[in-house]
Amino acid sequence: MDSLRGGGGEGRRVVAVTRKTQEQLERMREAGRVVAECHALVREMARPGVRTIDLDREVEALIRARGGTPAFLGYRGYPASICASVNDEVVHGIPNRRRLQEGDILSVDIGVAKDGWYGDAANTIPIGQVSAEAARLIEVCYEALARAIAAVRPGARLSEIARAVQSYVEGQGYAVVRKYVGHGIGSAMHEEPQVPNFVSPALLKNDLVLEPGMVLAIEPMVNQGTHQTRTKKNRWTVVTCDGKLSAHAEHTVAVTEQGHAILTLP
Ligand code: MF3
Ligand code: CO
Repeated sequence: MDSLRGGGGEGRRVVAVTRKTQEQLERMREAGRVVAECHALVREMARPGVRTIDLDREVEALIRARGGTPAFLGYRGYPASICASVNDEVVHGIPNRRRLQEGDILSVDIGVAKDGWYGDAANTIPIGQVSAEAARLIEVCYEALARAIAAVRPGARLSEIARAVQSYVEGQGYAVVRKYVGHGIGSAMHEEPQVPNFVSPALLKNDLVLEPGMVLAIEPMVNQGTHQTRTKKNRWTVVTCDGKLSAHAEHTVAVTEQGHAILTLP
């Protein structure tokens, strides 16, 4: 894995971004495949009456059965294998005993470490029949992720990813969360660079040029109302300040010579 200094130059923050070899990308794909398998299981299980701790238990078992480790469990003291964020919960919801209800939207984030390499992906799932507004929010979030991924190719800048998400989401009348961002990923769950979903002067000042072998976890969080969030007293669960809905979608994406490859697929 060769480390390069991207976005250098006068007055700029120097960011060390690792580039993975073909062999290392293959190993990341192995971890990513387990992540995808877990998401398929959650999608099958998630329905009214199910508790998010039930999902957590099943996912942890599947990860271990595949020879992996839940990447979130114990990370900075995080107490579970998945994040399960319902309705106005944005990210980092701790699985609990509350039963999912018809009409809820459930964001599930799953990270797996396998043979020293990481995969990370998130989905937002409608529970039973949801309102048209909730369904549209989820759709816009997935389309934002698709547009972000489509912007990934050698020579593209990080800001093109951010702009793809922000312009689309805001054009649809929703807001992009700013406090939480995507990230580089590889032999650690969080590597440089940060991958924001909005354009800022700070991003433009240090606007990384993508190169083959870089791997990014791209994860737009889309809010129905304000972009502003707060953290609950459990110190993890992030909610919208206005109590409106939030959706989250994420894939682990490699930059390839041809463009990109999604590593968190079955
Ligand atoms: N996908 C999230 C992230 O990249 C998951 C972290 S949750 C934690 O930050 F529990 F592990 F902190
Ligand atoms: Co992530």
